[in-house]
Amino acid sequence: MTHRITLRRDGAAFEFVARHGQTVLDAALAGGVDYPFNCRVGACGTCLTEVLEGDFRCRVDVCAVQFPEPAQNLALACQTVALSDLTLTLVTPTESSI
Ligand code: FES
Repeated sequence: MTHRITLRRDGAAFEFVARHGQTVLDAALAGGVDYPFNCRVGACGTCLTEVLEGDFRCRVDVCAVQFPEPAQNLALACQTVALSDLTLTLVTPTESSI
């Protein structure tokens, strides 16, 4: 199973496909999308993403600790997998979000 992911960035839309269980970040990089990242373990916040549409889940407990309010629709792309097609935008991390 795959999901189509659309990243809205700088007025443009970039599309890529995520395989089942593949993180959003890994799918973006495999699809040739220039997606910001650093640690890839959920620690730095560089890949912080707002999910505009679609369902997702975090692979590890770090997301529940950092984002206790799921309604914020914030996700770390390096730790997030799609449960449906997604539309995303990047978020500039701040001290309070990480
Ligand atoms: S790359 Fe560091 S939190 Fe995702």
